[in-house]
Amino acid sequence: MGKLFSIAILLLLFSTITPSSAKDGEHYSFLQSQKPATPPVRQKLSHLRLFLHDVVSGPDPSTVRVAQAASANKSATSFGTLVMIDDALTVGPEATSKLVGRAQGFYCFASKEEAGLLMSMNFAFTDGKYNGSTVTILGRYTALSKVREMPVIGGSGLFRLAQGYAQARTHTFNLKTGDAVVEYNVFVMHY
Ligand SMILES: *[C@@H]1O[C@H](CO)[C@@H](O)[C@H](O)[C@H]1NC(C)=O
Ligand SMILES: *[C@@H]1O[C@H](CO)[C@@H](O)[C@H](O)[C@H]1NC(C)=O
Repeated sequence: MGKLFSIAILLLLFSTITPSSAKDGEHYSFLQSQKPATPPVRQKLSHLRLFLHDVVSGPDPSTVRVAQAASANKSATSFGTLVMIDDALTVGPEATSKLVGRAQGFYCFASKEEAGLLMSMNFAFTDGKYNGSTVTILGRYTALSKVREMPVIGGSGLFRLAQGYAQARTHTFNLKTGDAVVEYNVFVMHY
């Protein structure tokens, strides 16, 4: 009788301890760590060479000024101006060259001393297997420098986890209209 009683006590202990130690909902977690894919996926280095068409003039410009500080017109460097862009990206410098994507985002005049821009844009690809993939560029763009280098801070689709840099060089600049074709060489490490 004494033995049975102590066994009953033990069972009772175990059955009460378990549920009371795990409160409702506590076993849910918003974060799970994962092992990297095995065998390890090798990173690739890609070099993209593209021409960006910045159309300021005409009936269908690809850039629009959307905001501006009241003092921006008085500033020699347009400090305080924000411009949205949706520029064509082609494989060659001609306007008729094959379209592979668009540079979408904005740039703002961020320097009081020089033509120093903050560039923030996605290269959104539309061609073939790259359709839907993006590369994100965020960085300083000194418009009057021969080479403007900006960090590539990420990507999506075929450019997941992209990291790298982009170098921009003016190919042609129309002084009359302000239209420009800019060569981009983008180097990215990605999976
Ligand atoms: C600045 O100049 C532009 C034209 O160059 C004009 O459209 C705009 O209204 C001016 N803005 C201010 C705040 O004066
Ligand atoms: C790219 O993808 C979109 C959406 O999936 C599709 O509508 C479009 O036709 C595709 N373009 C090309 C060139 O494959």
